[in-house]
Amino acid sequence: MSDSSRLRLLNAMEGDPRGEFAAAVREGLSASPKRLPCRFFYDGEGSRLFERICQLPEYYLTRVEAQILSGGASEIAGCVGTVRSVIELGSGIAQKTEILLEALLRRTGQLLYCPIDVCEDVVQAGAGRMLPRYAGLRITAAIGEYEAGLARLQKHIEAPALLLWLGSNIGNLDREASAAFLRRVAAALPRDSFMVIGVDLRKDRRVLEAAYDDAAGVTSAFNKNILGRINRELGGEFAVDEFEHRARYVEDAGRIEMHLISRRGQHVRIEALGMSASFEPGEAVHTEDSYKYSEEEVDQLLMRAGLECLRRDRDDGGRFAVVTARAMAHARR
Ligand code: TRP
Repeated sequence: MSDSSRLRLLNAMEGDPRGEFAAAVREGLSASPKRLPCRFFYDGEGSRLFERICQLPEYYLTRVEAQILSGGASEIAGCVGTVRSVIELGSGIAQKTEILLEALLRRTGQLLYCPIDVCEDVVQAGAGRMLPRYAGLRITAAIGEYEAGLARLQKHIEAPALLLWLGSNIGNLDREASAAFLRRVAAALPRDSFMVIGVDLRKDRRVLEAAYDDAAGVTSAFNKNILGRINRELGGEFAVDEFEHRARYVEDAGRIEMHLISRRGQHVRIEALGMSASFEPGEAVHTEDSYKYSEEEVDQLLMRAGLECLRRDRDDGGRFAVVTARAMAHARR
């Protein structure tokens, strides 16, 4: 079969994405303290910037996770046996994913890969890279957010299935929400599905803060891109450089907090919302949290999510963990 005939793209954009973005910006900038939800980071520009973050020397997460996957791929593949489909939440260009897909294809020869991502460009780029390399691979992708994507894929997924949630994406939900989310995901998948989850571990503050505030300023540009997106899509008048990127590790909570700090007092008009937002000098807009886990917190997560741990792979430095688990039948719903 030709490469393109092995690719299907499903639209899982629900309702009115621009309207949702507009509502979230209005609500977040009217709140106190102000916030802008991180799920809006990943427009085309944001997704491209994030791929650059993944190559930064300070952003160890991607590199270390890829190392762990390379070292453990055949064992992980052995653990999940003969899965027929692999679903991935927030795939991006799926560079690291390929390591696992390759190990699975070596065992089964045939695989359906179902990436879910809000950015069609990166999904296309990943598919364009992988399809020519693996004759046994078919891709059915859903363009949209996690749960809408899963719902859209439901009738395409072939059991047994493996769900991937890599890159510490789990860290962007708080500890309660991530466990609850994983339960809902397990309920939306075929019975007894497997999961492979990449979790960033608690570590030295300096290492963490550098990973989220690199010397070249790519992370800063990524964080500020949400203001650029308001300008582009909602007629905002943000002078993006009047805001400063800040990433702080809050050790008690075990999370990196990302903010945009207003450098001065300013009023910013947002045409499509018919509003202006006022910022005090030094005022912070919360954009994202990234939770880090201790080994005990990983245990707790698995328990709360109703997952049985089959393997836990880590790098030598203990920076990152890749957990292979199975959804326990009695934990459904
Ligand atoms: N999922 C990524 C993480 O938490 C997202 C991310 C990386 C991010 N760097 C960032 C989000 C900087 C906001 C700002 O590691």
